[in-house]
Amino acid sequence: MSRQTAEELIKFIEKSPSSFHAIDTMSRELEAAGFRHLYEEEAWEFQAGGKYYVTRNGSSVIAFTIPANEMKSFQIIASHSDSPTFKLKENPEIEVEKQFVKLNVEKYGGMLMAPWFDRPLSLAGRLLVQEEDKIVTHLVNVDRDLVMIPSLAIHMDRKANEGYVYNPQVDLLPLLGGAGTKGSLMKILGESAGVSPEAVLGMDIYLYNRTKGSIWGAEEEFVSSGRLDDLQCAFASLKALLASENQDHVMVHCVLDNEEVGSLTRQGAASTFLKDTLERIAGCLGKDREGYLRAIASSFMLSADNGHSVHPNYQDKTDDSNRPYINGGIVLKFNASQKYTTDGTSAAVFRSICRSANVPCQTYVNRSDIPGGSTLGNISNGQVSVHMADIGLPQLAMHSPYETSGVKDTEYLIEAARAFYSADIEILNGGTYKVNM
Ligand code: CO
Repeated sequence: MSRQTAEELIKFIEKSPSSFHAIDTMSRELEAAGFRHLYEEEAWEFQAGGKYYVTRNGSSVIAFTIPANEMKSFQIIASHSDSPTFKLKENPEIEVEKQFVKLNVEKYGGMLMAPWFDRPLSLAGRLLVQEEDKIVTHLVNVDRDLVMIPSLAIHMDRKANEGYVYNPQVDLLPLLGGAGTKGSLMKILGESAGVSPEAVLGMDIYLYNRTKGSIWGAEEEFVSSGRLDDLQCAFASLKALLASENQDHVMVHCVLDNEEVGSLTRQGAASTFLKDTLERIAGCLGKDREGYLRAIASSFMLSADNGHSVHPNYQDKTDDSNRPYINGGIVLKFNASQKYTTDGTSAAVFRSICRSANVPCQTYVNRSDIPGGSTLGNISNGQVSVHMADIGLPQLAMHSPYETSGVKDTEYLIEAARAFYSADIEILNGGTYKVNM
């Protein structure tokens, strides 16, 4: 079962080389499961028991179910659709001595740079194309090995193994072609998207790793792929939503773009996308402002973003008494400065759900002398202030273009997320919580 789920995860990620493709992949699965596409620009109407989804920018999605009974609250799982990569700049082709064409790119997010070298890469994203009197979005994925970032030979830099400071403007520019290939990029992109290159007016195109996902290890206990952070959580949350039913609250699967660059975009966790959507749901279900605020006060959210396993070569990088391991179950993340939203309350509620679902739960806290990353939970809480816990799956090599996690863990998250969606979390008089499974 775990193995099959890991294979499905690999396929899901293969179909999702950019955040646009991730949302497209999820939209197709939602459609197939009977979810109806709503558009923010149009009027919304719901049927009791109906299932819907809405996207923003084509790179964030919120899918939700309307309960058969009067809606009491929202139970939300949020994850992110983007991963650190390199974005093509405008006018990306640079000719080198008439013998090479390389691409001008800039960093998107905080990636590990070294593993981007010497592996087949390609390009995916979207093109904005003039078609008669309209500008139309086309997803594009050049589905072949197209570019590479070659290392400098050890003979030309004898100190290469003694630590190197990468300059993204110099070291990380991918090679596209040889002599005579200037001008081929837009043709290749246009051909892949089935559009004329002259009609392209805009683009958002990113590098991605072509190395296929792999299941490996002595007992095939590890799964490696690009974009596990955070498509592993997005995948698990979607699978759980499709397998859950609830008659009393709105189940919300929310996958937001731009987490890796701070979330402050029209479709990111700092935007009004989630808030606008929840308000509209409440409004369309006949709730007034007070009704909406009461629903929000009773709501619960899991911010699901991958965390760090203890690393077998660097054990001392993990906190002394909170030591998550791959295949040890879901990681509940804590931080006194509340970069992670988990507190005593939300930890208790989440642990109670995991206990009922028989899913193991581990804890992550940064070492006090190593500042950790941040995620979308506390950012989202600025717009939609609900009880929240930060969770994730333990992984190695976070922000490498090829990350490693556990075969069992995806299954654990699906189970816990299903239990979370199906449970009714009641918040009584501010300090008492009842989890009805
Ligand atoms: Co992440």
